Amino acid sequence: MEFSKTLTAVITALLLAPLLMAADPDPLQDFCVADLGSKTSVNGYPCQPSSSAGDEFLFSSKVAKGGDPSSNPNGSNVTELDVTEWPGVNTLGVSMNRVDFAPGGTNPPHIHPRATEVGLVTRGELLVGIIGSLDSGNRYYSRVLRAGETFVIPRGLMHFQFNVGQAEATMVVSFNSQNPGIIFVPLTMFGSSPPIPTTVLAKALRVDAEVVDLIKSKFAGGY
Ligand SMILES: *[C@@H]1O[C@H](CO)[C@@H](O)[C@H](O)[C@H]1NC(C)=O
Ligand SMILES: *[C@@H]1O[C@H](CO)[C@@H](O)[C@H](O)[C@H]1NC(C)=O
Repeated sequence: MEFSKTLTAVITALLLAPLLMAADPDPLQDFCVADLGSKTSVNGYPCQPSSSAGDEFLFSSKVAKGGDPSSNPNGSNVTELDVTEWPGVNTLGVSMNRVDFAPGGTNPPHIHPRATEVGLVTRGELLVGIIGSLDSGNRYYSRVLRAGETFVIPRGLMHFQFNVGQAEATMVVSFNSQNPGIIFVPLTMFGSSPPIPTTVLAKALRVDAEVVDLIKSKFAGGY
């Protein structure tokens, strides 16, 4: 009796393993260049006719140049290269980003719900911080990385980058999803639409309502 229960559990675990480990689904053709204008909604984007899919969808120079990081409150500028910027990655389970940082600039604490991330610092000095889940005792992992050094961030873990150098810093990252998604923790908590009730946040954060309202006012524009 016990043995057959164990056996059933093991078989169930084995059958589910591919599902649990999956990132984006596997492609069923060489390329499926996204038809970004399609009205059809599927998991990803429908393919353009293969006759209209040319080299321009497989190569991109968008991250050759970074954005200006000094003109917004975070002091960072993300040049995105997900499927909406690079239709050629549709169904292939990969995408990229470049982020430029002003001195003291940050890519604030955030989570990618659909992808593990690997990154390469190409210039400057970047503090990369990753916070483990409760399983790890909320362990904070961090290191200052310089040109040529890399990091990995498991899917779903909160992380940030912060430019600790005197000059601009740049990193280029890749994801195992064509659409990794982003949950900015400060914005999610204090700039949701409609807002999370202040009483809930005051209780959860163990502070007075005025403190919550002050922080909410900083994210009022959803930004
Ligand atoms: C990022 O940089 C580009 C080009 O320099 C600029 O047009 C854009 O406004 C910047 N974005 C933010 C959010 O600062
Ligand atoms: C700056 O960070 C906030 C979260 O703290 C985020 O909501 C916002 O989109 C970021 N802005 C830019 C320009 O990256």
